[in-house]
Parts: sequence; C-alpha cells; structure tokens
Amino acid sequence: MSISDNFLKIREAGSLAADTLDEVTPFVQPGVKTEKIDKICYEFIRDNGGHSAPLFYRGFPKSCCTSTNHVVCHGIPGNKELRDGDIVNVDVTAVVDGWHGDTSRMFAIGEISPKSKSLIETTFESMMKGISIIKDGISTGDIGYEIQNYVEKKGYSVVRDFCGHGTGKKFHEQPNILHYGKKNSGVKINSGMIFTVEPMINIGKYDTKVLQDGWTAVTKDKTFSAQFEHTVGVTNNGYEIFTKSKKNLDKPSYIL
Ligand code: MF3
Ligand code: CO
Ligand code: CO
Repeated sequence: MSISDNFLKIREAGSLAADTLDEVTPFVQPGVKTEKIDKICYEFIRDNGGHSAPLFYRGFPKSCCTSTNHVVCHGIPGNKELRDGDIVNVDVTAVVDGWHGDTSRMFAIGEISPKSKSLIETTFESMMKGISIIKDGISTGDIGYEIQNYVEKKGYSVVRDFCGHGTGKKFHEQPNILHYGKKNSGVKINSGMIFTVEPMINIGKYDTKVLQDGWTAVTKDKTFSAQFEHTVGVTNNGYEIFTKSKKNLDKPSYIL
C-alpha cells in the first residue's frame, strides 16, 4: 500500500474519532456521570462502523478516558458526576478497518476559573504550535522544543511521563513524540509518517503518579492538568490533521 492509501484509511478513523467528540460535547455538563460520556462514545463509534480501541486495551475497562482536574490522563469513566468548575479531558480512539484515529479535547464544566481557562488555552496553543512545524525532514525533538518553549514561558510545566506516539494499524507504535526537548534531537520525521501530538500541561510541577487502579495518572502536587490530542500525517511540505472537528469544536467555546 502506498502512503496515500494509508492516509485514506486513517482519514476515516480520525474523522470518526473527531465526530465522536463532537457528539459528546452537548452532554459534557454539570451533573453528568463520566460513564454516560463513555456509553455515548462506545455506541456512537459502534454505530458508525468502528470500534473503540481503549476497551480492554491492556485491561483498560472502558471505551474512552475521562480525566478531570488534577488527573493528567487515563482517567477511567465511572459514576462520579461532573461539577460546576471542573475541567475534563475526553480522549477517544476509533478503529476503522484496522486503522486508529486518536484525539482528545478539554471541556469546561459550567463556569470555570480564569486560571483553568488560561491553562486550557495554553495547552491547546502548544499542541497547535507543535503541529505547525511538522514536515518531511524535521526531528521529533523539534516538535517537543516548540511545545516546551511556549508552555514554560507561561509558567506551566510539560508532563514527562507520557508522550505522543506513532499510530496506524497499531494503537501505539514508534516513534515516541516527547512534548519537550531540543531542536534536532530524537528521530527524523519523514513524509508518510502518522503520529499523535498530545501535550499534557500542568499548572504546577510536571511530576505524576498512577493511582491504585493502575491507570489514573494524577499530578503529584494536585495542581490541575490539561491535554489536547490530534492524529497527524506528515507530507512533503507540511502535515495533515486527521482528527479535526467538522463543527469547529476543537477548542472549548469560550476560547472561540
Ligand atoms: N488515548 C490514549 C492515548 O492518547 C491512550 C489510552 S490507553 C487506554 O494514547 F487504555 F487508557 F485507553
Ligand atoms: Co494518543
Ligand atoms: Co488518546
């Protein structure tokens, strides 16, 4: 299969993943249990010709991740209700015809603090800055550098313990995309490669720990954390984002 055949496949998976986040958007409100968001993800992906990659992946029990407030990533949907002032990341990965589309966004529950808004906005911008320089011939470290440079100037920190990843026929594959680093370091990026950019940004220190459930990663200092994720493909002179929202819901409405 040629590069463009791969892109045709991943476009479908990415588009379904993005549509799924569009679908859950109106439900991500105060009083909603995160398991309700999970159910919508599961059913919407199933009903549109795909399946959810997270379900039973390495024993993960649900179809998406919901990471609230000081949860950095891999939060497990459950019976806890979202409350006014919470910030939550919903991360979905749709598999279509064996290909993975992986994307996440932040949602503001009711009225959130200016600090939370600024964290979310910085995180979104850092992801877009990292993506904006992608083209054939750059290095993974160039992406990390863009993100880290932007985020640290604002006084936030870049999580080290989790990173972006190659994706395609496998959920997670080489290369690792670190969200910090030095220009010209890491591995070379070539046209045709498909990977995610998914910075996790903390208000406080970058250290994380995983809770007893074996999945939920939280900030050690309990400060809030935010994340956005797109799946992208590298072209000769740029990139293609496969997980864009068709409804322009990529960022929370108060930023638009
Ligand atoms: N979607 C996550 C990522 O961006 C991975 C979740 S793994 C799971 O790579 F098992 F927690 F679903
Ligand atoms: Co990912
Ligand atoms: Co993801």
